[in-house]
Amino acid sequence: MGAAVLTVTATLLLALPDRAPVGELPALARSHGIGLGVAVAVDPLARDGGYQDVVTSNYTSVTAENTMKWEYVQPERDEFDWSGPDAVVDFARRHGLGVRGHTLLWHNQQPPWLSEGTWTGTELREVMREHTDALLGRYRGRITTWDVINEPLVDDGPRLRDNLWHRVLGEDYIAEALRMAHEADPGARLYINEFGIEGAGPKADALHTLVTDLLDRGVPLHGIGFQGHFVHGSVPEDLTEQMRRYSDLGLDVTVSELDVRIPEPAGQEQLEEQAREYRRVVQACLDVPRCVNVTVWGVSDQHSWIPEWFPGYTAALPFDGSYRPKPALAGMAQALERRRTGTRPGRTTPRTPPGHRTRLKNSKGPGIREPRPASAERPATPPP
Ligand code: G3I
Repeated sequence: MGAAVLTVTATLLLALPDRAPVGELPALARSHGIGLGVAVAVDPLARDGGYQDVVTSNYTSVTAENTMKWEYVQPERDEFDWSGPDAVVDFARRHGLGVRGHTLLWHNQQPPWLSEGTWTGTELREVMREHTDALLGRYRGRITTWDVINEPLVDDGPRLRDNLWHRVLGEDYIAEALRMAHEADPGARLYINEFGIEGAGPKADALHTLVTDLLDRGVPLHGIGFQGHFVHGSVPEDLTEQMRRYSDLGLDVTVSELDVRIPEPAGQEQLEEQAREYRRVVQACLDVPRCVNVTVWGVSDQHSWIPEWFPGYTAALPFDGSYRPKPALAGMAQALERRRTGTRPGRTTPRTPPGHRTRLKNSKGPGIREPRPASAERPATPPP
């Protein structure tokens, strides 16, 4: 095939639709049994009609960007503020949206009474138990997936982060926290959420080793969140393989905080390339058995965390600062439309990979999900 024809073919394949599929993605996502989510902030969710419309028209689930974090939920010891979490959960319920719980143990956004306290192991375990029981207990049955452990590894390497929990309780804090969460809500699906694992490398391998050990010990763990905070032009080619490493273990995976930041200024060419990157990420989720949700980390570019944290970068989300859809929205739709008729790879193969030993005495133990028949692999109403 001549080069010219190849170019045309490639261009046609990569050409994005010239219309914005506003309002179409929820049905497309549900047709694949996956969730499509967005991180939300309490104030605009309560007050801003344009913000609300983007959320309710284009997504099937929400994640509280900040309001369910420790510093907001328990700003003082034994003083809980449920106003923000309740607002998000109530909004979701009113609009038929799922809610992903974010987050229990993290090294950031801790209230001073916790981060500056001097704790014995017994005291800190008690504090963890109180917080976990309160948060998961309050939303039992309404929030069915939780990021229990957020970013347990150091930013750029294969080592456990030196956080409060690790310092006081040792590295087994992760197992302890997951067990506490499982006791607080046995029906919740418990996640470890991390960045820097989306492509091959020491950090990705370190998390896989950590997770395999947890499963071997029967620790209740059900999913891995790949945060997906990408720089334009750097979405790892092996994202699918990295996610598949966990679905092969019987775990669910999600892309939990997707955004693709573009160096300023973001011109049309960059936005169209960004659209292809969003398409590729959704495609990766569709290609991985047990990928259950892709969540973008913000409703619009004016609400994105990126400009504050990465000066010189912009335009990371599918909607611009005026709630206008960008090519990235069409990119996600194109991935979902492409696969609308096809079956998803891996849907008919048993979930237990060949040679996979059952790590628990009783294979129904919480750490390993029983392989679900392919027909049930994608539930009619996708988990949030
Ligand atoms: O709540 C205060 C408010 O009272 C004050 O008026 C205002 C002044 O700027 O600051 C508000 O706190 C900000 C908070 O977001 C809520 O808006 C903090 O300054 C700001 O640092 C904080 O940033 C959040 C960041 O986590 C903190 O690390 C981002 O919005 C949030 O998107 C980001 O999310 C994390 C995920 O939870 C975990 N994965 C990484 C991701 C990016 O860091």
